Amino acid sequence: MNQLVSLQLKNVSRSFGEVDVLRRISLEISRGEFVAVVGPSGCGKTTLLNLLSGYDRPTSGTIESSGRRRMIYQQDGLFPWLTVNENIGLGLRQLHGEREREGAVTDLLRLIRLEGFERHYPHQLSGGMRQRVELARALAGESDILLMDEPFSALDYLTRMQMRRELARILAERPRTVVLVTHDIEEAAQLADRVVVLSERPAQIRDQLRIAAPRPRNLTDDEVVQAIHRILTVLGIEHEPERATEMERTL
Ligand SMILES: Nc1ncnc2c1ncn2[C@@H]1O[C@H](COP(=O)(O)OP(=O)(O)OP(=O)(O)O)[C@@H](O)[C@H]1O
Ligand SMILES: [Mg+2]
Repeated sequence: MNQLVSLQLKNVSRSFGEVDVLRRISLEISRGEFVAVVGPSGCGKTTLLNLLSGYDRPTSGTIESSGRRRMIYQQDGLFPWLTVNENIGLGLRQLHGEREREGAVTDLLRLIRLEGFERHYPHQLSGGMRQRVELARALAGESDILLMDEPFSALDYLTRMQMRRELARILAERPRTVVLVTHDIEEAAQLADRVVVLSERPAQIRDQLRIAAPRPRNLTDDEVVQAIHRILTVLGIEHEPERATEMERTL
């Protein structure tokens, strides 16, 4: 596989017994690219992430990846009996020296803006804070590829908006390849370089949109508004726009 490619799926299908969930999905994700995956509920998005993470195997087709992969879940990915420090520290087992580990945890706490909370347990934090710790833990492991399954969907609207900004800021500082599964079309349009739209089950790739707008992006930026409209059109929720947008259609 080409050095610039992080994840490559060729003709990947997955079925569970009689149920076809994914059908012949081919997708190539570049190193450092941020890809959002959207699609109808139950179409197979989590199944796709499980395949990308290596946790599950396709029924047919091949998946290749280069680099370490980390999955970030919707909520409750932290160990409740460990403090913030200890949860983040778990991702740092590859660092041997005690002092080196402490330094890395301090850096990460600063990155997620949770200095002062290192001795707190998950239940003493808000949902947004917990997800930030989850992010820090994923980044600590020096994983190259972050696989996120609706990481912000359990949060309230304003916290979700804030988390988007945080994620964009953190990625600017520590670039990674990201695959983000989300129900939130706005989130996809605001964060991703490319949005992959899946069809109903058995999921196939219905369309892909590239969003080349600079970052950080506001929800009200023209490119973001156009992207949201475009995605909703592909999903059959809004009408075709009158004017073609500047976005490059890749399929
Ligand atoms: N381990 C499994 N065994 C049997 N069926 C499964 C398994 N995992 C997923 N499925 C089926 O695959 C289909 C897709 O599930 P999946 O969780 O991937 O959808 P999703 O797009 O993530 O849904 P949601 O939007 O609700 O999160 C469902 O019909 C589900 O029942
Ligand atoms: Mg899911």
